[in-house]
Amino acid sequence: MRSGVPVRISSQLTYIPGVIILVLTLLVFYTSLVAFRKPSYTSAPQTQQHDSHWKGWANIDTIFSFGDSYTATGFNLNQKQPCPEDPFGNPTYDPISPYLKWIHYLTMTYNDSKVETYNFAVQGATVDQTLINRGSAFSTQEGEKFLPNYDGQGNQTVGGDNDIAVGKRKNRNSSSKSGPLATWAPETTLFSVWFGINDIVFSNRSEALFDRIFESYSRTLDQLHTAGARNFLLLNVPPIHRGPNQPNDSSLPKSIPSWNARLAALATIFGSMNPETSVFLYDTYGLFNKILDGPEDFEQTRHLGNLRDQCDKYVKKLASQEMYERECGLPYDQYFWRDGLHVTFPVHRVLAERVAGLLRGWQSR
Ligand SMILES: *[C@@H]1O[C@H](CO)[C@@H](O)[C@H](O)[C@H]1NC(C)=O
Ligand SMILES: *[C@@H]1O[C@H](CO)[C@@H](O)[C@H](O)[C@H]1NC(C)=O
Ligand SMILES: *[C@@H]1O[C@H](CO)[C@@H](O)[C@H](O)[C@H]1NC(C)=O
Ligand SMILES: *[C@@H]1O[C@H](CO)[C@@H](O)[C@H](O)[C@H]1NC(C)=O
Ligand SMILES: *[C@@H]1O[C@H](CO)[C@@H](O)[C@H](O)[C@H]1NC(C)=O
Repeated sequence: MRSGVPVRISSQLTYIPGVIILVLTLLVFYTSLVAFRKPSYTSAPQTQQHDSHWKGWANIDTIFSFGDSYTATGFNLNQKQPCPEDPFGNPTYDPISPYLKWIHYLTMTYNDSKVETYNFAVQGATVDQTLINRGSAFSTQEGEKFLPNYDGQGNQTVGGDNDIAVGKRKNRNSSSKSGPLATWAPETTLFSVWFGINDIVFSNRSEALFDRIFESYSRTLDQLHTAGARNFLLLNVPPIHRGPNQPNDSSLPKSIPSWNARLAALATIFGSMNPETSVFLYDTYGLFNKILDGPEDFEQTRHLGNLRDQCDKYVKKLASQEMYERECGLPYDQYFWRDGLHVTFPVHRVLAERVAGLLRGWQSR
């Protein structure tokens, strides 16, 4: 495990049980005692997990997903909704697209059940538009897309069934034309949240700003919880400072661990304040570092031949997964980076597999 995240409560296959400031304390204590030994985060006490609403990855049938370009699939909520034949609704899932992302693989490849994914993620998104305005944000994806259309509390764009009790929307009824655009049950629904890259790259990265961003992050999680969300997957920020074309600016490699430590703390606090929730924190920072340091350790990235550069011919438009441009030297699928901030589909694929592993590791007892 690479160092860098001051407060790590997860390794790549660890989860954060709802509770545990205790775990943090123990870890800090333990690490300081045996600094030379790698602490085994996977064996962190699991006694305080809250599985009242978590019945395992195999029982998830719905994902509401919030995020930025790492997650965006172009979903338009005014068009076709996810359904068994089309788990993303729109645009239709294309299994050979060179633009496949982790959320595709998680929903279609590393799923243990049929999953329908409502993906509100938008390229460039930050946590809060009023703090860093990049056109979309967690706060707006939640407040303007999720709440009005899928919560059943606010005004509906379709129908107007406001009487459904919070967290009780479990009776899917395709014959019903009113009500939210989707019905969902808290225990079979996962809320996935992945932000931070744009907040870090497109800001002055001041601690004071991060304070305000995380207040907003926490508020928006609280609103989801109020709307009935009980199972959360949070992802931290990968080591984009190792990507091509990064400014020669030492504040970037410092800011990412700082962000990730805040997210780990938020996950812990949110889980302990809401003991009936399950909060999974996935460490993309650790995973991407591991792939960059040893792609051969992962089946999906064993064949990568370029871990450092982007090739301009692959930045603009991709023709296929196997696209090959002579001047790039290697086909697209052998690059790690697509551009200075984004990774290629083999990396997304490993990520999805590892996230599924995290979700599988904590089954209901
Ligand atoms: C995974 O999802 C696909 C697409 O919905 C589905 O065809 C497949 O049966 C699912 N896998 C499992 C194990 O349920
Ligand atoms: C619902 O819509 C009505 C009419 O457009 C508006 O007056 C009201 O404020 C809305 N309520 C909410 C909770 O958004
Ligand atoms: C679903 O629709 C059917 C047929 O319209 C109706 O009989 C049934 O009561 C509905 N169930 C729910 C939970 O709304
Ligand atoms: C950083 O940016 C935020 C938001 O744009 C601003 O409020 C704050 O004053 C800036 N801080 C510094 C030290 O520049
Ligand atoms: C980055 O800045 C340092 C110190 O100013 C300099 O020594 C180094 O060569 C720079 N690296 C690049 C890639 O520009």
